[in-house]
Amino acid sequence: MTLSSRDRLPIGELSARSGMAPSALRYYEELGLIHSERTSGGRRRYRRATLRRLAFIRAARTIGLSLDEVSACLARLPAGQVPTAAEWSEVARTWERRIDDRIAELQRLKAKLTGCVGCGCLSLTRCALYNAGDTAAERGAGARFLIEDD
Ligand code: FES
Repeated sequence: MTLSSRDRLPIGELSARSGMAPSALRYYEELGLIHSERTSGGRRRYRRATLRRLAFIRAARTIGLSLDEVSACLARLPAGQVPTAAEWSEVARTWERRIDDRIAELQRLKAKLTGCVGCGCLSLTRCALYNAGDTAAERGAGARFLIEDD
Protein backbone atom coordinates (compact mmCIF):
# COMPACT_ATOMS: atom_id res chain seq x y z
CA MET A 1 0.00 0.00 0.00
CA THR A 2 1.35 3.41 -0.92
CA LEU A 3 1.06 6.14 1.67
CA SER A 4 0.95 9.84 0.92
CA SER A 5 3.56 12.05 2.58
CA ARG A 6 0.74 13.41 4.77
CA ASP A 7 0.29 9.94 6.26
CA ARG A 8 3.95 9.60 7.12
CA LEU A 9 5.60 11.42 9.98
CA PRO A 10 9.30 12.22 10.22
CA ILE A 11 10.88 11.30 13.53
CA GLY A 12 10.92 14.92 14.74
CA GLU A 13 7.18 15.27 14.27
CA LEU A 14 6.50 11.89 15.83
CA SER A 15 8.65 12.95 18.76
CA ALA A 16 6.84 16.27 19.15
CA ARG A 17 3.41 14.72 18.93
CA SER A 18 4.11 11.75 21.18
CA GLY A 19 6.22 13.60 23.73
CA MET A 20 8.92 10.96 23.43
CA ALA A 21 12.54 11.71 22.61
CA PRO A 22 13.81 10.71 19.17
CA SER A 23 16.36 8.44 20.88
CA ALA A 24 13.49 6.60 22.61
CA LEU A 25 11.68 6.24 19.29
CA ARG A 26 14.78 4.80 17.64
CA TYR A 27 15.19 2.42 20.58
CA TYR A 28 11.57 1.29 20.40
CA GLU A 29 12.04 0.72 16.69
CA GLU A 30 15.20 -1.30 17.35
CA LEU A 31 13.14 -3.47 19.72
CA GLY A 32 10.43 -3.90 17.07
CA LEU A 33 7.77 -2.05 19.08
CA ILE A 34 7.24 0.48 16.28
CA HIS A 35 8.17 0.39 12.63
CA SER A 36 9.22 2.93 10.05
CA GLU A 37 9.70 3.08 6.33
CA ARG A 38 12.70 4.76 4.76
CA THR A 39 12.69 7.53 2.19
CA SER A 40 15.00 7.28 -0.80
CA GLY A 41 17.38 9.41 1.27
CA GLY A 42 17.26 6.91 4.13
CA ARG A 43 15.17 9.03 6.49
CA ARG A 44 12.63 7.39 8.78
CA ARG A 45 8.94 7.90 8.14
CA TYR A 46 6.30 6.60 10.52
CA ARG A 47 2.66 5.90 9.83
CA ARG A 48 0.23 8.00 11.84
CA ALA A 49 -1.01 4.86 13.58
CA THR A 50 2.40 4.77 15.29
CA LEU A 51 1.13 7.53 17.59
CA ARG A 52 -1.44 5.10 18.97
CA ARG A 53 1.19 2.45 19.53
CA LEU A 54 3.30 5.00 21.39
CA ALA A 55 0.37 6.02 23.56
CA PHE A 56 -0.14 2.35 24.31
CA ILE A 57 3.55 1.91 25.18
CA ARG A 58 3.44 4.91 27.50
CA ALA A 59 0.35 3.62 29.28
CA ALA A 60 1.87 0.15 29.59
CA ARG A 61 5.10 1.52 31.03
CA THR A 62 3.14 3.67 33.49
CA ILE A 63 1.45 0.61 34.96
CA GLY A 64 4.80 -1.13 35.21
CA LEU A 65 4.97 -3.44 32.21
CA SER A 66 8.48 -4.26 31.03
CA LEU A 67 9.41 -3.61 27.42
CA ASP A 68 9.30 -7.38 26.83
CA GLU A 69 5.73 -7.44 28.11
CA VAL A 70 4.86 -4.43 25.98
CA SER A 71 6.35 -6.20 22.99
CA ALA A 72 4.24 -9.30 23.65
CA CYS A 73 1.10 -7.15 23.87
CA LEU A 74 1.87 -5.26 20.68
CA ALA A 75 2.64 -8.48 18.83
CA ARG A 76 -1.05 -9.29 19.10
CA LEU A 77 -1.96 -6.11 17.20
CA PRO A 78 -1.64 -5.49 13.45
CA ALA A 79 1.69 -3.76 12.71
CA GLY A 80 0.84 -1.82 9.59
CA GLN A 81 -2.67 -0.67 10.29
CA VAL A 82 -4.79 0.93 12.95
CA PRO A 83 -6.08 -1.72 15.38
CA THR A 84 -9.81 -1.99 15.81
CA ALA A 85 -11.45 -0.95 19.06
CA ALA A 86 -12.03 -4.62 19.84
CA GLU A 87 -8.32 -5.43 19.33
CA TRP A 88 -7.25 -2.57 21.61
CA SER A 89 -9.81 -3.56 24.17
CA GLU A 90 -8.69 -7.19 24.24
CA VAL A 91 -5.08 -6.23 24.84
CA ALA A 92 -5.96 -3.63 27.47
CA ARG A 93 -8.11 -6.19 29.32
CA THR A 94 -4.99 -8.22 30.03
CA TRP A 95 -3.73 -5.27 32.07
CA GLU A 96 -6.49 -5.41 34.65
CA ARG A 97 -4.69 -7.84 36.94
CA ARG A 98 -1.50 -5.86 36.60
CA ILE A 99 -3.24 -2.63 37.53
CA ASP A 100 -4.87 -4.30 40.56
CA ASP A 101 -1.45 -5.61 41.68
CA ARG A 102 0.07 -2.16 41.23
CA ILE A 103 -2.69 -0.51 43.25
CA ALA A 104 -2.20 -3.03 46.06
CA GLU A 105 1.56 -2.45 45.97
CA LEU A 106 1.13 1.32 46.16
CA GLN A 107 -1.36 1.00 49.03
CA ARG A 108 1.15 -1.14 50.97
CA LEU A 109 3.87 1.39 50.20
CA LYS A 110 1.67 4.27 51.33
CA ALA A 111 0.82 2.51 54.56
CA LYS A 112 4.47 1.86 55.32
CA LEU A 113 5.69 5.32 54.40
CA THR A 114 2.98 7.25 56.20
CA GLY A 115 4.84 6.79 59.47
CA CYS A 116 8.12 7.95 57.91
CA VAL A 117 6.85 11.27 56.62
CA GLY A 118 8.50 13.92 58.76
CA CYS A 119 9.97 11.26 61.09
CA GLY A 120 13.58 10.61 60.04
CA CYS A 121 14.32 8.10 62.82
CA LEU A 122 15.34 5.16 60.60
CA SER A 123 14.48 2.96 63.57
CA LEU A 124 15.92 -0.56 63.34
CA THR A 125 12.74 -2.05 64.65
CA ARG A 126 9.97 -0.13 62.97
CA CYS A 127 11.18 1.80 59.89
CA ALA A 128 10.42 0.33 56.47
CA LEU A 129 13.24 2.33 54.92
CA TYR A 130 16.04 1.07 57.12
CA ASN A 131 18.01 -1.97 56.00
CA ALA A 132 21.10 -2.22 58.15
CA GLY A 133 23.91 -4.15 56.52
CA ASP A 134 21.73 -4.77 53.45
CA THR A 135 20.32 -7.85 55.17
CA ALA A 136 17.25 -7.83 52.95
CA ALA A 137 19.39 -8.45 49.84
CA GLU A 138 19.00 -12.22 50.28
CA ARG A 139 15.24 -11.80 49.70
CA GLY A 140 15.80 -10.28 46.26
CA ALA A 141 16.68 -7.02 44.56
CA GLY A 142 15.10 -3.69 45.42
CA ALA A 143 13.64 -2.16 48.54
CA ARG A 144 12.35 -5.43 50.08
CA PHE A 145 10.88 -3.84 53.22
CA LEU A 146 8.81 -1.53 51.08
CA ILE A 147 7.63 -3.92 48.40
CA GLU A 148 6.94 -7.01 50.50
CA ASP A 149 4.07 -7.70 52.82
CA ASP A 150 4.94 -7.72 56.52
S1 FES B 1 11.87 7.25 59.35
FE1 FES B 1 10.93 6.90 61.24
S2 FES B 1 9.63 5.18 60.87
FE2 FES B 1 10.71 5.50 59.00
